[in-house]
Parts: sequence; C-alpha cells; structure tokens
Amino acid sequence: MGVKTIAVLTSGGDAPGMNAAVRAVARTAIYNGMKVLGVRRGFNGLLTGDLFEMNLRSVSDIIHRGGTILYTARCPEYNSPEGVKKAAEVCREMGIDSVVVIGGDGSFRGARDLSGEGISCVALPATIDNDIGCTDYAIGFDTAMNTAMAMVDRLRDTAQSHDRCSVVEVMGRHAGYLALYTGIAVGATSIIVPERAIDIEQDIIQRMKKTQGTGKKHFIVIVAEGIGKVYELAKEIEQKTGIESRATVLGHVQRGGNPSVQDRVVASRMGYHAVQVLMEGRSERVVVIRAGQIIDYDITEALQMQKPYENELHKLANEISI
Ligand code: F6P
Repeated sequence: MGVKTIAVLTSGGDAPGMNAAVRAVARTAIYNGMKVLGVRRGFNGLLTGDLFEMNLRSVSDIIHRGGTILYTARCPEYNSPEGVKKAAEVCREMGIDSVVVIGGDGSFRGARDLSGEGISCVALPATIDNDIGCTDYAIGFDTAMNTAMAMVDRLRDTAQSHDRCSVVEVMGRHAGYLALYTGIAVGATSIIVPERAIDIEQDIIQRMKKTQGTGKKHFIVIVAEGIGKVYELAKEIEQKTGIESRATVLGHVQRGGNPSVQDRVVASRMGYHAVQVLMEGRSERVVVIRAGQIIDYDITEALQMQKPYENELHKLANEISI
C-alpha cells in the first residue's frame, strides 16, 4: 500500500530552517499526489488532533523565516506507552499513514516509538546545538553560529574600546559545538565547553596573562551554557588578571532569525529525502548528512551513535588565538 497521507510536525527546541524543512516535505508530498497534514505543537498536536490540511500555498512565504509555523513543544504526556498508543490511534482515525518528525534526538525517540505502533515515521535532525551523533550537521546550527558571531563582534567593539574582557555565554546545555565554532570565528582567547575538564587558571587566566604580555588589551572568553556561572567567572577573571570584565548571556536570541543559505538548503534536501524514503515504503528512518551526502539510517541505530567532541579543532583554536 502506497503512502496516502503524511503528517508533519516540529518538536523540541525550535531551530532556524525548520520552516524550510516543513515546506520541502509538504511540497514534495503534494507534488507526488499525497495529502499533507500539518500538526501543531509537536506530539501534543497528535494527541489532541490539532492538525490542519496543507496545500501548496500553506508553505508559501516561510522559507526565509525563523521559528516554526507549526509551533513546537516538549510533550511529557507523549513520553509514555499510553501516550504513544493514543497518538497512533489519532493518526489512524485521521487516515495518517506516515509522519515526518523534525527535531532533536528526543524527537527521534518519539518517531521510533510511533513507528512501533505501525505508523511509518521519518525524522529530520534540527537543533542549534548540532549535538546529534548520527549526522555531521543539524538544521539551525549555521544560523545560530552566525547570530552568535555577530553578537560577539559587537561585544568585541565595546571590549576593545574599554580594554576589557568580555565573557560570553552561548547556548548548549550539554554540547560545546556552538561555543567552539563561534569561539574560533570571533578569535576568542578561551573557549570553555562541557566536553572538556575546566581549569580556569590554565585555560583562561594564564592565556590572558600571556597575551597581555605581548600587548593584547581586550579579550573574549566564550563559555557554553552547560558550564554556566559567567557572572562569577567575569568577577574571578577581573580579580586574578586586573582586567575589567563583563559577562553577557546571549540566550534565546541565538534560536531566532532568518535561516542562512546552508540551513535553507540542507533543510530542503532533507525534507525532500524524507518523503522519498516514505514513498519507497521504508519507515523508522532518520535523514542525515554525511560528508555532504544526504542519506538515512535506522532510528534505533542512529540514536546509539556518538558525536566525539572536536578536540583537534579546540587545539587549533587554542594555538591561533594567543
Ligand atoms: O537544544 C537547543 C537549546 O537551545 C539548548 O542549547 C538549550 O540548552 C535549550 O535548548 C534551551 O531550552 P528551552 O528553550 O526549552 O529553555
């Protein structure tokens, strides 16, 4: 039996480029003669039947917008066998045979569980943290990095004018990729991430003093959210180096904004691929990008894959930002 009705939802934290993915899924499915339903607020919408039929124009004028027109949510009720069964029942009642889930690894688990209840599912990776083991890249990362970089460039102007140290927290509760890439892009003296043991004396204070000795007068320290305490850290730096320091938490500004070219194109390619997978009669898959190629993996296998922290890149950052 071929695919007749696809539902599409976005789940977990939003990421710029989710709209481009929704658009690609809807357009590819409609192009191939399928019915498409948009689900509001992630798995919540499946539980409550909050869905609407999409046509080609439902996804007009969204490719350039951040956020998600489908809204998103984290849904505790869905995270139980009863919740998953209920969602599958709603799918059957509404004639939905396939679901495309766009989100992080929590959303992948949701898609795997729904597949277990007989609904074909394909998941797409989207998170500004880029911490999903099975894929080189997750939708939203490039835009978030560029936003963080632009904000830190502004902070550098004022840090330079005052001979100060700017301590900046970027997002990433468990992951330091955003901190690492942003740190390299802004020439941070120190990058502090949850994946590496922290030694404030060696990784921050000594590095600052060393560069101070070569004539450097202003400094940028990038700290991943998972480390936290940037206000205390700024005080400690000021005390130990004598350099006036200020802390800034960039926060959710990093999750918004118009998606970059990369996020629009990757999202479009992944959304297109997801529908091809379903048309081939395959389910329980996650679409990923590996060495520039869009491919797909079994969700359970994908969930077991680890993403090693890029220690070599961190070493490079340390060597060239001194
Ligand atoms: O996973 C994306 C992310 O932005 C993390 O970097 C951050 O720790 C978390 O989401 C914040 O979640 P919320 O928006 O629910 O506070």
